[in-house]
Amino acid sequence: MKNLVLLGAPGSGKGTQSAKLVAEKGYTHISTGNLLRAEIAKESELGIKVKEVMESGQLVSDDLVVELLKANLDLDNSAYIFDGYPRNIEQAKTLNSILEGYPSLAVYFELDTDKLVERLTNRRVTKDGKHIYNLVTNPPKVSGVCDVSGEPLVQRDDDKEEVVRSRMEVFENTINPVLDLYESKGKLVRLQADQSMDKVFSDLVSKIN
Ligand code: AP5
Repeated sequence: MKNLVLLGAPGSGKGTQSAKLVAEKGYTHISTGNLLRAEIAKESELGIKVKEVMESGQLVSDDLVVELLKANLDLDNSAYIFDGYPRNIEQAKTLNSILEGYPSLAVYFELDTDKLVERLTNRRVTKDGKHIYNLVTNPPKVSGVCDVSGEPLVQRDDDKEEVVRSRMEVFENTINPVLDLYESKGKLVRLQADQSMDKVFSDLVSKIN
């Protein structure tokens, strides 16, 4: 499939499964969250503008995100996994205009809120967000160090419990029209995300094949 959209609450496993799809199926992963965090790390003009918004768990403005997204896309040469975009109905329409049509498929990761809080407060990542661990469900071999790159692992600023709860509220308030849109076009599949990482991956692969 050409371009996939992964939808799901914070912590539902989109980034984890994207990394597996990249490694095993050759997709290119584009995460608007990772792109925004890279701008914050660079202390770019955009990074300075969005830092506070992200740390509070709210959404960055659609205009800022779409500029960043477009600047990092090469649609002629890659099949993308869109992770974290679209977040609302306006972004879903914008993505259709960027792709000149609907994505091949949107996969919705379903999971209980209580599990999400536990997953996120125990998450540790490399600074670029590319390698994702969990202190409980997927710990690194050496505490605090990435198995792959040897970089130190950090906690994201927005993974503190109070911010996690705001992010979930934002998600719940914005996602339904996006799900309805994709569902109405036969583009939506639902995935049970409360299973082992390997089982989620095999279910995901069976849905996109
Ligand atoms: P973003 O970075 O996109 O975060 P998110 O969507 O909230 O999702 P997460 O990255 O938190 O979770 P995930 O589903 O990838 O889970 P993961 O695989 O890491 O957005 C952050 C912020 O940026 C937003 O709040 C907003 O401010 C801004 N932003 C981004 N995009 C935007 C946009 N389009 N418009 C406006 N603003 C935007 O897994 C989580 C944990 O669970 C890990 O520890 C992992 O090891 C573990 N885990 C994963 N799968 C399993 C499993 N099956 N079993 C057990 N543990 C598991």
